[in-house]
Amino acid sequence: MTVIGIIGAGEIGSQIARAAIANGYDVVIANSRGPETLQGLIDELGPAARAATAAGAAANGEFAVVAVPLKVVNDMPAEELAGKIVLDTNNYMAWRDGHFPVIDSGEKTVHELRQAHLPLSKIVKAFNHIQAPRITTAGKPAGAPDRLALSASSDFPEAVELVTRLYDQFGFDTADNSPLTESWRSGPGQPAWVAHEHQTRADLIANLARAQRIILD
Ligand SMILES: NC(=O)c1ccc[n+]([C@@H]2O[C@H](COP(=O)([O-])OP(=O)(O)OC[C@H]3O[C@@H](n4cnc5c(N)ncnc54)[C@H](OP(=O)(O)O)[C@@H]3O)[C@@H](O)[C@H]2O)c1
Repeated sequence: MTVIGIIGAGEIGSQIARAAIANGYDVVIANSRGPETLQGLIDELGPAARAATAAGAAANGEFAVVAVPLKVVNDMPAEELAGKIVLDTNNYMAWRDGHFPVIDSGEKTVHELRQAHLPLSKIVKAFNHIQAPRITTAGKPAGAPDRLALSASSDFPEAVELVTRLYDQFGFDTADNSPLTESWRSGPGQPAWVAHEHQTRADLIANLARAQRIILD
């Protein structure tokens, strides 16, 4: 049984947990307040799930999901995530996260910054342009003409391959938008992000190509 460590048990972390369990994975899931605060979610998810600290989720997962907004100072367990593929769902929202000059200036994408925070991990941007509830409802069988597609961006091909398999199991096609320097193309406000509810793989590839980088002074 493959175990996924999920850090972040909010809207997106809990939905990825539901979809993962429905597809035969076990999950170890964490929030910021401690495993005892996750009992209700664990009761709902059933025996394939258990709660842990963030370090515990990272250590127990064969790969990990970080479904937590990025902070200026790293708050993710870098040591326990070392050597692992880490799916990063983060969308940079300055109104929520505060301004990060290195991102606003275009020097780094938000996911390059996560990669810098977790230098021994293999970061892959994933699940960022789908509304959390749709992860368990919008999937379709492979080959369906209206199957939706999601993007993945990484500096590590094996990380994109893992996300491609996971997306396929959850019912989505993949558009590879690598490397991480290109990951801004699927960020908030971009065509691929806006069109998330009705985007086949061909649509998504076209929308990623139409993206215009936003640089703030
Ligand atoms: N919601 C969506 O539909 C959606 C879709 C795509 C991408 N995203 C992006 O994914 C990220 C997460 O979004 P969300 O909507 O799931 O947020 P959310 O509902 O606010 O959940 C955030 C989760 O992160 C946990 N957390 C925060 N700091 C932590 C830490 N240091 N260690 C462990 N856990 C920590 C929180 O725990 P506590 O509650 O205990 O503080 C909470 O469980 C954001 O960047 C968001 O933009 C969201």
